[in-house]
Amino acid sequence: MNAILLLSYLIGSITFIVGLKMLSHPDSARKGNLVAAFGMTLAIIATIFLYGRDSGAPLHNYGWIFGGLAIGAVVGTLAAKRVKMTAMPEMVSLFNGMGGACAMLISIVEFNHLLHAGTENIGKGILLIIILGLIIGTVSFAGSIIAWGKLNGSIRDRRIPGGQMLNFILLAGIVVLAVLLLAGSGINPDVLFYATLALAALYGILFVMPIGGADMPVVISLLNSFTGVAAACGGFLYDNPVMLTGGILVGSAGTILTIMMCKAMNRSLKNVLIGALGGNKTASAGGSKEQGNYKEISINDSAVLMAYARKVFIIPGYGLAVAQAQHVCHELEKLLEEKGVEVKYGIHPVAGRMPGHMNVLLAEADVPYEKLLEMEEANQEFSTTNVVLILGANDVVNPAAKEDPSSPIYGMPILEVELAEHIIVNKRSMKPGYAGIENDLFFKPKTSMLFGDAKKVLQELVSELKNL
Ligand code: TAP
Repeated sequence: MNAILLLSYLIGSITFIVGLKMLSHPDSARKGNLVAAFGMTLAIIATIFLYGRDSGAPLHNYGWIFGGLAIGAVVGTLAAKRVKMTAMPEMVSLFNGMGGACAMLISIVEFNHLLHAGTENIGKGILLIIILGLIIGTVSFAGSIIAWGKLNGSIRDRRIPGGQMLNFILLAGIVVLAVLLLAGSGINPDVLFYATLALAALYGILFVMPIGGADMPVVISLLNSFTGVAAACGGFLYDNPVMLTGGILVGSAGTILTIMMCKAMNRSLKNVLIGALGGNKTASAGGSKEQGNYKEISINDSAVLMAYARKVFIIPGYGLAVAQAQHVCHELEKLLEEKGVEVKYGIHPVAGRMPGHMNVLLAEADVPYEKLLEMEEANQEFSTTNVVLILGANDVVNPAAKEDPSSPIYGMPILEVELAEHIIVNKRSMKPGYAGIENDLFFKPKTSMLFGDAKKVLQELVSELKNL
């Protein structure tokens, strides 16, 4: 391989690793994205102009290549610029589906090359990689498109009777077809190959179809890791180190993220995939329990309590994102700081509906990153906090996770806000959150409810604070 091409691949691979590392902190995430994008651009340009030169067979169909690049760049840029923050998971899903489709197409193209060359002359290893790329890429493509449709509301959650058994049969069918193809049975390889593709597509559809809407981030992350593995198959196939590195990184990062999300929700992956919670919620253990009385607090009293506090913690949750109240929340924080109050945010890893949801939301409003404390750090500070203001969060502050073994969220680590002096909870009603369960915190003597839409309540708090 051309030395400059190899060097470009090495640089590309290194930028992926460095970029991924930088993505792990909000401060460096933007730069990390650019670093990895630079590496990817370098690898693409180098491939287009240098691949095959040494063997006298350089790429030649530049019109198609640059035409495709231009269309992809325009569509991708416009989509990314226009997407609303709350629609981010569906865009990620769609783009991930495109990655799966690429892996699927690579397998189709390379299989046809093999057939023309005569399968008997080709190593079984290559054929195995093609088949794996086909299966994983197709499942990821079909599943991601369904996930995209469900998130944008065009496809409804649908429980298919005997769905799990059907999925098992489909998986078994895929394995049998792949083995027959590999073993070189007398059956027409074309038939076996496209039948495998069809079953994999069906499996991808049926596998995602019954999963509840709110469990989608976990499924998308899982499909993302599938796409990574499928891309890594392409890397093996073309002996391309940068594709291999990129695929492995996406595959492993997606797997780790999936595991972390499940852990943070105290759910097993099996539980998410079967959909015992989320879109197919079962009634909670504590749902009908008599909870006693809760007390309310007025805007004025809340403003006074916070204005005269030494330290206030804001706990953002899904409701803050729904209300799009991040900007006015930042305004409140600045006003309190002007009054000499120390203000920090406690961020739960699965607050909201997608990984890093609260970080992204608050970054949009220019809240300084150093004010955002991860759950473990925040938990150490609550005992020295005067007021905790909970904005549209529910499950992530539910003490049942620690205290009630029968609760579906038992074992999920939570923000231990009860350690603070006063707790103000803003939400619109006493309705439960995502897990569908009551929250004992709302009935504790330290807690006061401040009902209303988060944006409206925060606007009123801001104007009250300005008058104090
Ligand atoms: P939730 O437990 O879902 O609670 C959100 C609360 O916000 C609701 O109780 C709702 O109460 C309130 N709310 C809704 N709209 C509002 C508005 N406009 N103004 C004020 N309040 C509003 O949220 P959370 O505490 O952030 O927990 C997240 C949950 O989602 C966890 O159970 C987590 O496991 C799950 N989950 C997270 C992810 C990721 S990756 N983040 C992925 C899948 C699932 P009212 O209706 O009474 O207003």
